[in-house]
Order: sequence, then structure tokens, then C-alpha cells
Amino acid sequence: MHNASTFDFSTKIGHTWFPTPLFTASGCASSGKELAQFFPLSEIGAVVTKSIALKPRLGRPTPRMAETPSGMLNSIGLQGPGIDAFLADDIPWLMTQNARIVVSISGETVDEYSILARRLRSVPGISAVEVNISCPNVENRGLVFACDPVSSRAVIEGVRRTIGGDIPIIAKLSPDVTDITEIAREVVSAGADGLSLINTLLGMVINTQTMRPHLGGKTGGLSGPAIRPVAVRAVYQVHQVLPKIPIIGMGGIRSGRDAFEFILAGASGVSVGTAIFGNPRAIMDVQNELKEILISRGFASLSEAVGYAHREDSTGALQRGADSEESEG
Ligand code: DHB
Repeated sequence: MHNASTFDFSTKIGHTWFPTPLFTASGCASSGKELAQFFPLSEIGAVVTKSIALKPRLGRPTPRMAETPSGMLNSIGLQGPGIDAFLADDIPWLMTQNARIVVSISGETVDEYSILARRLRSVPGISAVEVNISCPNVENRGLVFACDPVSSRAVIEGVRRTIGGDIPIIAKLSPDVTDITEIAREVVSAGADGLSLINTLLGMVINTQTMRPHLGGKTGGLSGPAIRPVAVRAVYQVHQVLPKIPIIGMGGIRSGRDAFEFILAGASGVSVGTAIFGNPRAIMDVQNELKEILISRGFASLSEAVGYAHREDSTGALQRGADSEESEG
């Protein structure tokens, strides 16, 4: 049996190496300042920052959040300081924490993504760029680039061209499509080194007192455990057609067991998002629990477990000491 010192927990996206496969989910930890009170940011794989736009944005009208069964609906509207302030303040601060940094970018046009990529190109200390082409809280569905293969390709090609070959690109996709594998193939052939699966699902809550939509922005992005089976399905489908492409899996991960499910489906990394709001240490808990589970199942490395659920020989699971952990929370 392997132990914590011989087990290889590392993961890779493009040519960038991460000591652990745990990432914050974009938007759920801003630029990491609040989380740093609870654990050293250098102990997780990377901080994925809130999607940054070219200009400062105030976001959508309030209310911006609603509780939903086993989840949360939000409509922030990409509030943020804009790329200039982000590069002046947030990146230098993250570097003082020795955090690995994945910068999430968001644009309203193909050109805006390319301009953001050009700004990041020469910034030291960036481990990867996550291209958020799937924010649901935009003025019209035509701006959800990830719902259309041609638009998805155009954004990723532009970013690839302007950012150069040194910084890996991760495309963040939406589950709100007929066939997510079609979009995944398109962005990978356009130059994405990895994929983040999945962004929030488009949802709505109606306030039965006012008899109007609860959120100021009317619709919002659904996250939390309610979407986990959708996310696991997306990771499984995409890993099946693109087995060599690293996937960061996310959607309702609260425990090491949840994270293990994504790894078995084909994720090489996992993000914790909504759970952070209730428990700022959730990502550290998931990290410790996932490592323990992988070791106790007899894996020598994380990479051995990636996509294990795709194997034909299901008796392998029994040989790895599967017990009565089928029930779940
Ligand atoms: C926002 C962006 C997202 O990508 C998401 O999934 C949810 C909310 C936003 O800023 O509104």
C-alpha cells in the first residue's frame, strides 16, 4: 500500500505542473484574499480567480443570489475591477502568497478575449489562463460563446494566437448544450490545452410573494450539489472522446468522495466552488480526503485513477477494496 509520502498527487495541464489537483472554482474565491485567512494558498493546486473583464464592471442589480434545493442560483454579472487594477493589485498579492495562479478571463467579443490574452502574455507567475466562454449572466444568449461551436473556436483561436505558446489555455464550457463533446472537440482543435467542466446551468427562481423573478437579473447560474450528476456526466462524455485532454471537473464537490467521482469519470483536477461559501476550508478538506481515498484504494498516483470508470473490467473496483460506500450524501 502506498502512503502519503510515496503517493504522487500531482497533475499537469499543458506543460504546467501542479502539486495537487485541487483548484478553487472561478468566482467563488475572488482573488483569494479572504481564503488566505483559513489556509496557505500555496497548499492547493491553484487559485482560479474571478473572471476578469477589460473594464471595471459593477455587475447586475440585486438580489444576486437565491437558495435552491441542494444548490444556489447567482446573477453577479461579472462584477470586477477590470484587467488594469487586477494586474496591478491582485496578481502581485497572489505572488506574495506563493500561490499558483490561473487567471479566468471574460469578454463580450472575440477581440476582447484576445486583448485580455495579450495583456497576460508577459505577466510572470501565471500558471494558466481559463477562458470563460460560458457565463450565463450576460445580456443575451448569443454572448454565451460556449453554446456555439463556431463562436467557441473563434475565441480560443484568438486567445491561442495572442497569448503565445508558454501559457496553457483552459476553456470553460457550459452544460447547456445538446452535445458538449462537439464544443470540447472544437476548442481543443482551436488550441485549448485543457477544459473546465462545467460552468453553472441557466436557472430561475420566482418569488411567490412578489410573483416576479427573484433575481435582479431574472435568470442566474445554478451551482452546488444539485448539478453534480450533470457535471459528472459531462466529464465522462468528454473524457471518452478526448482521453488525453486534461479536464478540471467541478459542480457541487463538497467531499473527497465527490471529487473521487469526478476523477473516475476522467477529470485530472477538481474545483471546489459553492461549498466554499459555507465552509472556507472546504477545499483543504476535499484535498485531504481525496488523497486518503486514492491511497486507500491502492492507487500509486492520481493519474492512475483518472478515467477509471471507463474501464471495462468492473471487477477492478472490487480488487481495490470497494466496500459499502455506495450510499451517498
Ligand atoms: C457569473 C459568471 C459565471 O461564469 C457563472 O457561472 C455564474 C455567475 C457572474 O459573474 O454573473
